[in-house]
Amino acid sequence: MLHKPGFVLSDGTTLDDLIDRDMNEVSMRVMDDAELYHHEMERIFAKTWLLLGHDSEIPKSGDYVVRDMGEDNVIVARARDGQINVSLNVCPHRGMKVCTAEAGNAPIHRCIYHGWAFRPDGSFIGAPIEKEQMHGSKRTKDELGLKKARVHIYGGLIFATWNIEGPSFDEFLGDAKYYLDQLFCRTDSGLELLGPPQRFVLPCNWKIPSEQSASDGFHTLTLHRSLMEGGVMGGTAESIYDNAPGMYGVDVGFEQGHSLRCLEAAQTFKMFSDMSFEGKTLDERLEMLPPPGITKELIPQLHKNLSPAQVEQLATIPPQVGGMFPNVLVAFIFAPRTDGGSSGALALHAYVPRGPHQVEFVNFIFAEKDCPEQMKRDMLQNSIQQTGTSGLIEQDDADTWPQIQRAARGVMSKTQTLKYQAIHGHEKPEGWQGGGYCYPGFTKDDTQWNWWLAYHRLMSADA
Ligand code: FES
Ligand SMILES: [Fe+2]
Repeated sequence: MLHKPGFVLSDGTTLDDLIDRDMNEVSMRVMDDAELYHHEMERIFAKTWLLLGHDSEIPKSGDYVVRDMGEDNVIVARARDGQINVSLNVCPHRGMKVCTAEAGNAPIHRCIYHGWAFRPDGSFIGAPIEKEQMHGSKRTKDELGLKKARVHIYGGLIFATWNIEGPSFDEFLGDAKYYLDQLFCRTDSGLELLGPPQRFVLPCNWKIPSEQSASDGFHTLTLHRSLMEGGVMGGTAESIYDNAPGMYGVDVGFEQGHSLRCLEAAQTFKMFSDMSFEGKTLDERLEMLPPPGITKELIPQLHKNLSPAQVEQLATIPPQVGGMFPNVLVAFIFAPRTDGGSSGALALHAYVPRGPHQVEFVNFIFAEKDCPEQMKRDMLQNSIQQTGTSGLIEQDDADTWPQIQRAARGVMSKTQTLKYQAIHGHEKPEGWQGGGYCYPGFTKDDTQWNWWLAYHRLMSADA
């Protein structure tokens, strides 16, 4: 087979110099290299499917939000036919940003520079003083629309890619779909985004949080220990260290770089309650420890929308946290309340690159559309308290990631490597119904190493 060497940086460094696939090591230079960053924008962010938002943000014709695909700013708008369109927010006239607001409703987007106007589907309407034909005669109006991305809506989530002829969204998800459907496609009305996403910028490369999202369960034991000590996540610090219940489960990794940590519901339940799952039916288990966001009334909908094997997994060993390549964290957190209830938190984080040294953390907080208003408030509160700008969990991470970034700047430091050598090797547990590579037992480096292999694969492909 023809070996595609990918690219060579201007000093002669190759991708294989940076990612040592024999040793499972990654050079720290990857976190602090402007040249590499430009290759990433071309080979990853211009090629793969990216999360932009949720259709509940733009329910009406003309509604729009402005988001980013890598460094490219885009308008995500619902057109008159109800379809969601993603168009490059760059005026084809002289390059001005067409839509300067962050969100709103507009039947027409008019560029503030010379007034060229566009519909929500990106098509060009015309320039002011129509009779003067200020768009010229060399191009037809059809050629002067905003550049459009390819869009796919999955469980209400809006994804887009510039890779018009590339893999379909289903190919992109691959075997991860079986598990992600359990989180995003399990009720009749689906999820609802609870307000605009929280956003903040951190001084670190996008890959630092993104590789953690590839199911780095191990760091929670140490970095997030204070959550256990404070009883925020149930249990005590001692029980966490003695038994480390949250460390054992089945990590599942996928060719495409996605991953999920499936953790025994019985173990999770023990952290919250003295009652036992022993002898309980699946529905009784689901009632005792509902997946985050699911009420008793919604349980029949799980059976309607998912296969029996998927419901069984939700009741016994549900996916609880993971990542979607390249830059999304999936958090479905079981969260106890002091009154014994558990509404949980349901959040997605997109880590949007802002140059080689900065990332914008975009926190999407969800609840099931059909759950009671009180539950939506509880889930919003849980997510705000745990994930995102002021979240207890991410305060730990937001302190750590920039320190890794700072370290990567040093001449000597950037020659150091990140190690992914605690490898389990994949092995499907008996009776396991889902696909992907399963890594049962203590959470190790397998899924994060898969993430780097997916990164390597995309970066080595022709741009
Ligand atoms: S740059 Fe937009 S109308 Fe001229
Ligand atoms: Fe973390």
